[in-house]
Amino acid sequence: MKIVHEAAELNAAPRPLAFVPTMGALHEGHLELVRQARKLGQTVVVSVFVNPTQFAPHEDFSRYPRNLERDAELAAGAGADYVYAPSVETMYPRDTMTQVVVPEVTDLYEGAARPGHFEGVATVVLKLFNQVRPTVALFGRKDLQQCAVIRRMVEDLNVPVELKFVPTFREPDGLAMSSRNVYLSETERRSAPLLYATLQSLASEMKKGEAAEPLLEEARSKLAKAGFELGYLDLISSHRFAPIADVAEDAAIVLAARLGKTRLIDNIEL
Ligand code: PAJ
Repeated sequence: MKIVHEAAELNAAPRPLAFVPTMGALHEGHLELVRQARKLGQTVVVSVFVNPTQFAPHEDFSRYPRNLERDAELAAGAGADYVYAPSVETMYPRDTMTQVVVPEVTDLYEGAARPGHFEGVATVVLKLFNQVRPTVALFGRKDLQQCAVIRRMVEDLNVPVELKFVPTFREPDGLAMSSRNVYLSETERRSAPLLYATLQSLASEMKKGEAAEPLLEEARSKLAKAGFELGYLDLISSHRFAPIADVAEDAAIVLAARLGKTRLIDNIEL
């Protein structure tokens, strides 16, 4: 396994390439993407880059956990051939001007809660695609709106890459693995699994044909009573990222909730 800091160093890598972009602080969720990439029988490239442009000024860019040596070891263990870890100066050598803006699918939910976030994500992902030139790129369904944004960008701009979206990897109690789970206090960590339990029971009621909105309303107040500060809890189209009234082909229930200082997101696809 090689650690490289410049994209040109990837020219020597045998093609085709399967690519897993990350911001590091790797956990089992990320490693699941690497293992899925490995299965494709291609050279596996994992990028580790904490992208400043997708963090708002008040967000956790400076305290985001960074440990390249540990990440490289974990990535290698899961089957990575290359870890590409560019510096901020390599990625953004001068004032970058061009931005990838994906409208509509970014209007609501994470796009509304985090203005500028998806422009930062779409732009850095396109830059990484152009540097790495992968055949396949893998993303986690944990960040379902991010999947919708990348899918739209790739379709709209004819980006020559095949996308694979991997199911969310969870702790045994159901909590979606996230680099931000380390911010939870012990008490918060104990309440956190209620989020996925709520999504599961909503999904099963809705699949039985129960009307969505009253179920969502009841779940919203239950979570509020349990101490969650709810950002959103909605039934949506996972392609359009807009609310829907009834279960449809691409339906998902998405949620964001703050537990103390930590903002958690999760979803379930129906
Ligand atoms: P990051 O949060 O590090 O996540 C990297 C990839 O791992 C994303 O595709 C994310 O959806 C996936 N992932 C995270 N937790 C997961 C889990 N529990 N199960 C399955 N997959 C999981 O997402 C980003 O970085 C950045 O926005 C990035 C795409 C790298 C652009 O900077």
